[in-house]
Amino acid sequence: MYLGIDLGTSAIKLVVLRDGAVFAQAGAALSVSSPQPGWSEQAPGDWWQALRTACAQLDLNGIRAVGLSGQMHGAVLLGEGHEVLRPCILWNDNRSAGAAEKMQARCPDVSQRAGVLPLPGFTAPKLTWLRAEEPENWRQVRNILLPKDYIGLRLHGGLATDRSDAAGTLWLNQATRGWDDALCAASDTDPDWLPPLFDGSDVVGQVTPGAADALGLPPGIPVVAGGGDAATGALSVGAVTPGVGFISLGTSGQLFVCSDGYQPNPDEFVHAFAHTLPNRWYQMAAMLNGARPLAWFAGVLGCDVATLLSRAEGADATRVPLFLPFLTGERSPHGDPDIRATFYGLDDATGTDAMCRAVVEAVAFSMADACQSFGATLDGDQPLLAIGGGARSDLVLQSIADATGQVLVRAEGAEAGPACGAALLAQHAVEGGRIEDVFKRPSTGQVFEPTDQPALMQRLHRYRALYQALRPFAKSG
Ligand code: XUL
Repeated sequence: MYLGIDLGTSAIKLVVLRDGAVFAQAGAALSVSSPQPGWSEQAPGDWWQALRTACAQLDLNGIRAVGLSGQMHGAVLLGEGHEVLRPCILWNDNRSAGAAEKMQARCPDVSQRAGVLPLPGFTAPKLTWLRAEEPENWRQVRNILLPKDYIGLRLHGGLATDRSDAAGTLWLNQATRGWDDALCAASDTDPDWLPPLFDGSDVVGQVTPGAADALGLPPGIPVVAGGGDAATGALSVGAVTPGVGFISLGTSGQLFVCSDGYQPNPDEFVHAFAHTLPNRWYQMAAMLNGARPLAWFAGVLGCDVATLLSRAEGADATRVPLFLPFLTGERSPHGDPDIRATFYGLDDATGTDAMCRAVVEAVAFSMADACQSFGATLDGDQPLLAIGGGARSDLVLQSIADATGQVLVRAEGAEAGPACGAALLAQHAVEGGRIEDVFKRPSTGQVFEPTDQPALMQRLHRYRALYQALRPFAKSG
């Protein structure tokens, strides 16, 4: 049996694989703190506590190896003795907008090297912010880890990362798949602070007796490098061969297509990143807001997401207002940390059901923007698999199929994708096998065919115009 650990933003999720199938799952919730507007932080110690809580729900005696997955781009800053210097600054934190602009000015070819234009959510600009705003912390930094790699440090005691998570730092040269000194120099980072790089199924350490005791794992079993959650999600649906793609609807959202070469497309804020498997890359549109607006609006209404979805279903589809879903700014395709969410077109008769429907449609519209940003890279004839919590809803998937014109297939066990991918990497390390056989495409799943919805397409058009109209206003605000 193999354990996959996915350190998400709203929860840590565990999957135990037996004979290649999900045998058991567990999880524990995490919260995000926002000490100032636009900030987003978590304490690494809380991740470890959540992992202990989740592990306590499972019998882990028979586990042979562990794989890691996690939220990307966060900066875990460690001092001399690997102590955590401050809370982790997360992927959806916008404080480093000025630092991202500075990085672009200092290194004009940053997007050719790093595969994407600098934005505040990525890791590198966070170090420039730290140097300016918390110089005492910056002086004490000796190592930097990605979130899942902090779990790795607590599990096996070593410093390591994999190339797919490294890809999201802006310190990795995507073409050579090694750390890039020019990118480090442009972001106030000493390359010696960065951990050694591995492929996803490389063994990077063994579970220490202390960690085994705390988590109920057998001591000494191997831990593999794993991958960022986009890449591990890809492994779980077999997106390991060129052209195979999927959408993911978690707190964030992604449109992901695997490729066998490095193909940067930075103008549309498409990310061209190293995959966690050797000699593979991927193109990804990464939406900060994904399915999060559903949970946010459910919270505002004081109901759960399932209730929100059934209210959306019951709404009069001819009288739906528009909603821009940009609760935390947006990365792909706008690269706009300043924009914020809004409803538009409310009238005297608008009720909350119609507003619920508008939020669902906005999730679909942001996927339509993502598909548009891929241009010809996206093969319209290849169905896209759908994973993540948001993919459980028929309404959400049908709306995305209609708005994008793409056929979608819901991957079974979709919510646990990244944790499954991590567990498969652990299995691959122990048992070997051909990549295409280990990381398989699911053979079945409910299919969502696009239907002709002229009114929806008209609203998509107005949604795009609304963003353009509000963009200058957001910046000046
Ligand atoms: C990818 C991204 C998200 C985070 C959080 O670029 O920002 O996938 O990893 O899930």
